[in-house]
Amino acid sequence: MNRLTKAAEIEFPKICDPRGNLSFIEGSRHVPFPIKRVFYIYDVPGGETRGAHAHRQCAEVLIAVAGSLEVRLTDGKKEVSYRLNRSNRGLLIPPGTWRTMHDFTTGTVVVAICSREYEEEDYIRDYEDFERYVAALPEDQKAIL
Ligand code: TYD
Repeated sequence: MNRLTKAAEIEFPKICDPRGNLSFIEGSRHVPFPIKRVFYIYDVPGGETRGAHAHRQCAEVLIAVAGSLEVRLTDGKKEVSYRLNRSNRGLLIPPGTWRTMHDFTTGTVVVAICSREYEEEDYIRDYEDFERYVAALPEDQKAIL
C-alpha cells in the first residue's frame, strides 16, 4: 500500500439469511493488505468529529457496521466525501490521506481495519504538517484523489 493506491469503496460478502445477515472479511482477500489491527469507534456524541489526521504508512478500511457517518478525505488539494451507511461496505483509505469523520447518527459503530499496528509516530495530526508533508513528496505523488 502506498499513497498512489486509490481511495475506493469495497463491497464485502453478504450472506443473506432470514435469521439475520452475515458478512466477513479476510486479510489480503477482501481488504488489500494483511490485517494487523482492528479498532472501533462507538458512542459518538451528536455533532462530534473524529479522525483529523493522516498516516504516513498505515492503510485503513472503515466500515459503518451500524448506523452511518460521513468521511471526508483530502490529499491536501482536492476533497472527496463518502457517506458510509452499509454494514457490508468499506472505504479504503490509502496512507498519506487526511481524513475526518462527521455526522455520526445515533448508535453508529465504525470498525477500522488497519495494515499496521498502532504507532504514534505514523500519525500526522496537524493539518499544516500534513501540507508540508505533501509539499515534500515527489510531484507525481501529490494529487491522489
Ligand atoms: P486517535 O487515533 O487519535 O483517534 P481520533 O483520531 O479518531 O481522535 O486515537 C485516540 C486515542 O486512542 C489515542 O490516545 C491513541 C489511542 N489508540 C490506541 O492506543 N490504539 C489504536 O489502535 C488507536 C486507533 C488509538
